Amino acid sequence: FDNTQDAILLADDEARYVDANPAACALLGYSREELLRMTVWDVTPLPNGELGQELWRAFIAAGKQDGEYTLHRKDGTTVEADYRAVASIVPGLHLSVIRDITERKQREHEREAIIIVASALRTARTRADILPVVVDQLLNLLQAEGAALATQDPLSGETVFEVARGEFARGAYTRLPLGEGVGGQVISTGQAYLSNDIRSEPRFARPDLLGDIRALACVPLIVQGRTIGALLIGRKTQIASDDVRLLDAIADITANAIHRATLHEQTERNVQRLTALHTIDTTITASFDLRLTLNVLLDQVTTHLGVDAADVLLLHIPTQTLEYAAGHGFRTNAIARTRLRLNEGHAGRAALERRIVGIPNLPESGPAFVRAQLLAGENFIAYYGAPLIAKGQIKGVLELFHREPIHPDPEWLRFLETLAGQAAIAIDDAQLFDSLHRSHDELAMAYDATIEGWSRALDLRDKETEGHTQRVAELTLRLAREMGIDDAELVHIRRGALLHDIGKMGIPDSILLKPGPLSDEEWVIMKKHPAFAFDMLSPIAYLQRALDIPYCHHERWNGAGYPRGLKGEGIPLAARIFAVVDVYDALRSDRPYRPGWPDEKVREYIREQAGQHFDPQVVELFLTITATDETRGSTPS
Ligand code: C2E
Ligand code: SIN
Ligand code: SIN
Ligand code: FE
Ligand code: FE
Repeated sequence: FDNTQDAILLADDEARYVDANPAACALLGYSREELLRMTVWDVTPLPNGELGQELWRAFIAAGKQDGEYTLHRKDGTTVEADYRAVASIVPGLHLSVIRDITERKQREHEREAIIIVASALRTARTRADILPVVVDQLLNLLQAEGAALATQDPLSGETVFEVARGEFARGAYTRLPLGEGVGGQVISTGQAYLSNDIRSEPRFARPDLLGDIRALACVPLIVQGRTIGALLIGRKTQIASDDVRLLDAIADITANAIHRATLHEQTERNVQRLTALHTIDTTITASFDLRLTLNVLLDQVTTHLGVDAADVLLLHIPTQTLEYAAGHGFRTNAIARTRLRLNEGHAGRAALERRIVGIPNLPESGPAFVRAQLLAGENFIAYYGAPLIAKGQIKGVLELFHREPIHPDPEWLRFLETLAGQAAIAIDDAQLFDSLHRSHDELAMAYDATIEGWSRALDLRDKETEGHTQRVAELTLRLAREMGIDDAELVHIRRGALLHDIGKMGIPDSILLKPGPLSDEEWVIMKKHPAFAFDMLSPIAYLQRALDIPYCHHERWNGAGYPRGLKGEGIPLAARIFAVVDVYDALRSDRPYRPGWPDEKVREYIREQAGQHFDPQVVELFLTITATDETRGSTPS
């Protein structure tokens, strides 16, 4: 009785406590003397009065009563308890044995909270869908008075409060300079923060944004080892370390969801952007009319960069002024009166400093917003100016305007640069009247940079050792050259190799990243990836001739492959070459479903599969040209 961990209380027929062991005193916070002056009603949720009396008699008649109850402590707090009572262990004496299960309850609560967030996120497809869902859940699940999600602007390093709710609502869209404020510190250090008395803390950059709260917790959002942002909650009452742990678990799920959505969105956007580049290219080629070309360009710019309006200012050399040439999305014509000297306004700065200038809040950008009057009715918030540079010379500025804040990511900025490059080329052409000598090389480079970015995103998702795609593309080219394929065709083979597994974008993570073998149903889905690739790429005219590899790289020489079961020379040559290289590199690499094989074993396997999986001629040449390879001994990494 004295030494057991369980709390034990004895009560008489009138529910008065007649004994309590030390564990009971410790659990409830009363001394034994105090408990002996108390009744069951004082501690348990049993109602006082008539009903309570009746329930107590019912318990005695039944002989026992078990359950989970909330008990009241002396200090006013409560404790979740597993409660077992046995009536009449001797006549007139009733025993209860109580075990503290607060911790277990807390864990259950956390598990439920995590399940709620995870299932709420399941229907959120894009990054923009995910962020508000998470912040709303934080308010509910953590009983927070304020909640926010902050990220880091890739261009300026500023901390941006993308979503802010409750007491933090007035902080929405606020930007703080790099590393400033608690959010900025958590993002730059990756360390969680908790304070239960923020008024005595010096770290806050803008305490005015925090509303009427006393306690604040902030945890980092970490994606693949990199901190991309932070979650914050605020309360008027204490935040316990249990709450921080839960917040951290939610941050984990959120970071994963953001990562997944970002990769997926990037891929979709890349397809659209590639098409946009092609449209612009076709226009430049077809037209000698600069104004027409710029209008097509601005139409693509506003659509694919997601901004309300855009214009092009051209540098007028004699006066060294930037003058309006074309615009899209403006409410009035006022913008057409733009004329800025090179040291004037944000556009002047972009031209003079030859770099992209981003202004998150135009109205607050002070005297540099020289066209404030001109643009008064437009209600623009965000501004970007990109210099147009051709052959080292400033041609003008591409300007973007948006009526809401913009949250640019590195891909967005790269695409803006690419489009600015296109615009500069178009202007340069028109100015020199030599459209025939226009640099097709630069355009090809813009396309290929886009494709390469895209294939890197694919490797990332597949968790393939970095560089798998680059390696197989290079080796495929070498082999193709040896087979005597001509240079014009090699360009398409290279693109096809870079995009070979683009169709895996359509395969769910649960299958793609599964650590073990696939089930029959999972194989059915996995085997669709070449057909998905065909569907994604065939609408893009420019990639038509690169389709052979993405569509046919899993066909087998003996006809046992997929998706069409093609056989022998019925399989396009590019795909026959590529299949050997892909399997070679795949087997040498670690996969979620097995570790990499040693090189000799891989070569033996390739040799053995000649005439079955692979074209025997390709295998022979492959083994010959890789036999002397220096890099062959080291594992791909
Ligand atoms: P992947 O991992 O890029 O592999 C490409 C091809 O390399 C495979 O095409 C197969 O021909 C060859 N290969 C890769 N690993 C092995 C291996 O351990 N043994 C042998 N004999 N060949 C191998 P396949 O089989 O059509 O698979 C296509 C894709 O399906 C794979 O691409 C991978 O993403 C997935 N996959 C295949 N098997 C499994 C598995 O057991 N578990 C999981 N989670 N995924 C698998
Ligand atoms: C933040 O915590 O980063 C925003 C508020 C502040 O630091 O003052
Ligand atoms: C600029 O100055 O170049 C853009 C914003 C403005 O009108 O001042
Ligand atoms: Fe594949
Ligand atoms: Fe591959």
